[in-house]
Order: sequence, then structure tokens, then C-alpha cells
Amino acid sequence: MAKTIGILTAGGDSPGLNAAIRGVGKAAIGAYGMHVIGFRDGFRGLMENRSTPLARSELSGILTIGGTILGTSRDKPNRMPVGKKTMDMTDAIVETYRKHHLDGLVCLGGGGTQKNAFHLLQNGLNVITLPKTIDNDVALTDVSFGFDTALGIATDAIDRLHSTAHSHHRIIVVEVMGHNAGWLALGAGIAGGADVILIPEIPYDIEAVAEAIRHRSRTGSRFSIVAVSEGSMSREQAKTLHEAQALVDKTKGLKSSKKGVEKARAAKAKVSEIKEQVGNSTLQLSQQLEQLTGLESRVTILGHLQRGGTPSAADRLLATRLGTACAALINQDTFGVMVATRGDGIEAVPLEAVVDRRKTVPLDHPWVQSARDIGVCLGD
Ligand code: F6P
Repeated sequence: MAKTIGILTAGGDSPGLNAAIRGVGKAAIGAYGMHVIGFRDGFRGLMENRSTPLARSELSGILTIGGTILGTSRDKPNRMPVGKKTMDMTDAIVETYRKHHLDGLVCLGGGGTQKNAFHLLQNGLNVITLPKTIDNDVALTDVSFGFDTALGIATDAIDRLHSTAHSHHRIIVVEVMGHNAGWLALGAGIAGGADVILIPEIPYDIEAVAEAIRHRSRTGSRFSIVAVSEGSMSREQAKTLHEAQALVDKTKGLKSSKKGVEKARAAKAKVSEIKEQVGNSTLQLSQQLEQLTGLESRVTILGHLQRGGTPSAADRLLATRLGTACAALINQDTFGVMVATRGDGIEAVPLEAVVDRRKTVPLDHPWVQSARDIGVCLGD
């Protein structure tokens, strides 16, 4: 009997999502005779049973379009805002799945989506996932789609900032997305020729950054481009965060008394406070550099520009390869896996191994070495 599969996109959108939906859908229908249903706005649409049939005609003409035709949300099955409450809506999701007689559910998303999909797997659903995120931080895949497009956009921005920084003899601090991973800032920083690249994996010493910029000025380059990942932090911030995190770990077991609960809550709040400070510290970094170097400094936050618009050829290709491989795996009844890339090939990685892990930049990664070798200051 022909299989029926559901498909949804969750988490932040990312270029290549439509190419992936098309890849899964066209292969599922064309090569294996399946029926495909799209669910709107991530896990929320599945919970609310908002769906749309995806026939070949709906899958045509979407390859080059940014965003996701299905819509997305960051809602989690087990912690879904419903009215003023946050509720566990797993049962409602399972009900929708059964109502549509689904044989499988394809979830396209980043780290959070892998975790949410795993939760549904544990609740008896046949789940299979694809890794998408511009952050490139999903564990156990070489790369996720969206990253290449964002890399191109951020690199183009850094290219353009050069001429204005140069003309005004300024520092330009350009903030790049990436959550807690430095892939995007490091990649775009190297490709765009940034003079300083700051990533979360290497807490920076502000004096070392200022000295690198002063050195450039002394040797005739009176401008500097600083590419800073949104999750980067100074050594001091890293120390405070580390201490706050340690307190969270210490207070985890204290839930039995009221005092213990309060302590645990306070420790968590401290971590969130520091993270928020870190997330908003690019302007402060720019001001500090202005003071320490005597050069004028400006900030450019690339923000959601990095996620918008047409996916690159590499992302379309990757999303199509992953999507078609996903349909083939469903045809063989392989579930509970993320369809990952490894070298030139594709692998099905158990979801269990993917969840609760993030792929950050290893300090001995070749990109880090290349940046150092060409004289880029990494803030340490
Ligand atoms: O995960 C992708 C990402 O773009 C991160 O780089 C960024 O921190 C986050 O999403 C922004 O999320 P939102 O669009 O919900 O503000």
C-alpha cells in the first residue's frame, strides 16, 4: 500500500528549506508513489491539525524561493504556549499523526528540532529529520543547508564594508549570526578578509584586539574590520558565565526544599542575564575599541538578512540530495534517524546521538589555523 508521509519545518527559517521540501516530496511521490502532507508552522501546525496536501504541482517552482512555504515556529511539542499557559501537547500531536494515518513524519530543522523530533520518536511516531540551520551547529553532519547561503551573504557584506571603513579610516565591527557557534563569523571573516574575527569558542581579550588594530594603524592600515559572532564574549564575560553555569549545576539537585528551588531559579536567571548581556554587547565592544585605539568605530548588525532570500546553488544541491535520500530511507522504513552528510556521501545518524549536542568550532580546526597563519587576530 502507498505510504503517506507528513512534512514540517521548525525553528528559525533557513535558505534551502523549500528545496528540501521539494526534494523529499518529488522523490516520495515520483520515485516511490507516496502521498505527502505538509503541516503548517512547525510542531504547532501538527498540534492544531493545520495541513495542506503537497502534490507535484505544489512542489513546482519553489526550488529558488527563500523561507519555507509551510511556515515555521519555534514551538516545542512538550512546552507549547496555549493561551496564557505553556502545555505539553504531545498527545494532540500524536492524535493528528494517527488521524492522517501517517507512516512517517519528516522534520526539517536545527538542533532544537532534532530534540523535538526525538521526543516524538520516543512517543511512538516514525520520525526522520534533515539538518538545516545557517549556524552549522547541528552535531554529526558535516554541514547543514542554509549555511552556505548565509556565508555568502555575510562575506558579501564584509567585502562591502571594506571600502567605507577604508575611506573613513574607521573600525567597522560587523556582527554575524551563529548562536553559540562561530562557523559563520569565522568562515565569512576569512572569506571577506576581516582583520579581527571573534567567535564564542575563543573568549577575547579586549586589549589584544585593540593592540592588533593599533598595530595595523602603525603599519599604514588605518582601518580595520572586526567580524564578531553574536555569541562571542570577553574573557571576563566567559568567566562570569562559567561560574553562573557551575552554580546552576550545583543547585540542580536542590529541588526538594523551597529555598533550594529559589536558589536554582536564581542561578538560572543569572545565566540568562549574562547570556542576554553577551547577546547585546557588540555596541559596547565597538565603543571600547574606539576608546582604546583612538579610531572612530561603527557597528553593522547583519541580522536576519543572513537568513533571507534565494538559497545558493550549494544549498539547493545539498537540500535536494538530503531530501531525496530521506525519501529513499522512508521507503525502506528507516526512521529515528537524521539524514546527514559525511564527505561526499550521505549517512543516516541515529537521532539519539544527535540530540543535546552542538557542533562548535574546534580550537584546532583548519579554519582557525588558516586565519592565524594569515595574521588575523582571533582575540586571544
Ligand atoms: O538559528 C538560526 C538563528 O538565525 C541564529 O543564528 C540566531 O541566533 C537566531 O536564529 C535568531 O532567532 P530569531 O529569528 O528567532 O530571532
